[in-house]
Amino acid sequence: MKIERVPLEKLRTRTSEKWTGFAADVLPMPVAEMDFELAPPISELLIAMITNSDTGYLGDTQNLNRIFAEYAATQWGWDIDQEQLFICTDVGVGMVEMARTIVQPGDTIMINSPVYLNMFSWIKELKCKELDAPMRKDGLNYTLDLAAIEAGYKSGVKIHFICNPQNPTGSVHSQSDLAALADLAKQYGVFVFSDEIHGPVVFDESKFVPFLRVSDNAREVGICVTAASKAWNLAGLKCAFILTQSERTAALAKSMPQSVRFRASLLGARATAKAFECTEWLEGVIETLDENRHFLAQQLAEKLPRAKYRVPNCSYLAWIDMSAYELGENPAALLLERGRIALTPGYLFGANCGHFVRLNFATSQEIITEGIDRMVAAIQNAK
Ligand SMILES: Cc1ncc(COP(=O)(O)O)c(C=O)c1O
Repeated sequence: MKIERVPLEKLRTRTSEKWTGFAADVLPMPVAEMDFELAPPISELLIAMITNSDTGYLGDTQNLNRIFAEYAATQWGWDIDQEQLFICTDVGVGMVEMARTIVQPGDTIMINSPVYLNMFSWIKELKCKELDAPMRKDGLNYTLDLAAIEAGYKSGVKIHFICNPQNPTGSVHSQSDLAALADLAKQYGVFVFSDEIHGPVVFDESKFVPFLRVSDNAREVGICVTAASKAWNLAGLKCAFILTQSERTAALAKSMPQSVRFRASLLGARATAKAFECTEWLEGVIETLDENRHFLAQQLAEKLPRAKYRVPNCSYLAWIDMSAYELGENPAALLLERGRIALTPGYLFGANCGHFVRLNFATSQEIITEGIDRMVAAIQNAK
């Protein structure tokens, strides 16, 4: 079941960040929102709730716990204890509020760049110090650098934020790397916070492994924060959840203020539960994204052959090295100014990433083509 293309004129009537954050002549391809229609069962549910004025505070969510547990078991062979699922507003809030139960201002949190840009702002929000153990890079293949991570852990790290699977590199961490990471974290007394928001969107050649599934050590040191918001496009509905699978980490989650739960939205929680049942729709999205990631490779090879792009193994974000075109310190700024195409600037994802841009391909092939044509025009104008 392939996903229908939504025409650009209709997309431009949306009022989300992606569609209102730039001037009207700009083609927006940055923010991780999808240009697809919602899964019909989700829109029907939301319409029914609105019609019934069912827009109060978040109520009982046992249903969500049960549905997610079924999804995790079927999709990932992961049997979870449903009682250890804690609702929060969004992944950012979940990561920060859960981290507050562990760190004091001034403590150190590790990240592995290039990595999801808000991990840097969450560390600032916690008034903590950031320690980067950059991903090991082989061409455009990125893997966790366990030696650098261990060296960092030795210097005194309280929490390690990982992105599993990884935004922006499109890498899916292997079970063996995650197991080795869990052992190191246990040895050095580090908590691993695994942001698994992209977990449902992984292509066939790779296998997503939830961090808490890998070992007893992972369950002891690990905390998963996830949501349906990337895979089912629900970011504006504000619901995510923290998952623990050990007594120690569950006790930390229970020590968070009750308001963490009540700041999530009822519409979001109901839509999230429904989303994890819409697996057929998601298969259609993955099929469409699979075609798009290869279509983008063809477009780049044909029109921007010096751009370097590794077809990602997950999600809908392309990490493109533009260094061969010598577009200055911030290629995304130049492409925006000269080509009227908005991409996410590489420097936001960590040191030494300035020559990259991140492009969102959860859209139609017409829009991908238009985006690449605008990049080409910008580069020609810059000469
Ligand atoms: C890895 C990752 N984590 C978190 C988020 C944002 O999630 P939320 O809006 O639930 O905070 C994104 C959004 O793109 C993301 O890519």
